[in-house]
Amino acid sequence: MNKPVRIGILASGTGSNAEAIMNACETGRLKGKAIVSVLISNNPDALCLTRAKNHNIPAIICSNAGLEREEHDRNMVKELKKFSVDLVVCAGYMRLFSTYFLEQFPNRVINIHNALLPSFRGMHGYRDAVEYGVKITGCTVHFVDVEMDHGPIILQKVLEVTFEDTEETLKERGLELEHNAFPEAIELFCDGRLKIVGRKVKIYPY
Ligand code: GRF
Repeated sequence: MNKPVRIGILASGTGSNAEAIMNACETGRLKGKAIVSVLISNNPDALCLTRAKNHNIPAIICSNAGLEREEHDRNMVKELKKFSVDLVVCAGYMRLFSTYFLEQFPNRVINIHNALLPSFRGMHGYRDAVEYGVKITGCTVHFVDVEMDHGPIILQKVLEVTFEDTEETLKERGLELEHNAFPEAIELFCDGRLKIVGRKVKIYPY
């Protein structure tokens, strides 16, 4: 059996996706395939830090306050390398990356977005979907490049939007979907089943 993939989670907020990934590594579909070796947050007050501590996972604050993008990224790379991270997982990490950062982890940085890309990029996927009046939305797990919510797509999951939905009700169902989609995409990575071909990601069968 291969050595487990060492995940470094980057998160800025609540960390429900981080929690789902930590659970999946401990008792779920990622057990034996991946471990979360560190969680880093740029926000000292973020709940995700407490969640990591509760799982006995090192929780590190890397504040970006007053730093240039690359300076901050260099600090994070140092931490991620200290923990020998193989895969960087952005779970509600609200910042873009420098080329420097991405070069340190080529094709090894993934993100989850709360809409079906390329629709509704940015901070408020669920709100934007409700306001626009779309009938379906969902979530997207993708490789990260320098542009926001832009890199090659690994997988997408679909969610129906009802007339009565508000941002809150849609978000509730959406997060549930995200919590399954993210570990599923990570498993594909761990199993070596992903190949980036230009803008597309080929998924190899078992
Ligand atoms: C998720 O909806 C994710 O798609 C987006 O930010 C949100 C983070 O939520 N990128 P949480 O911190 O994982 O609860």
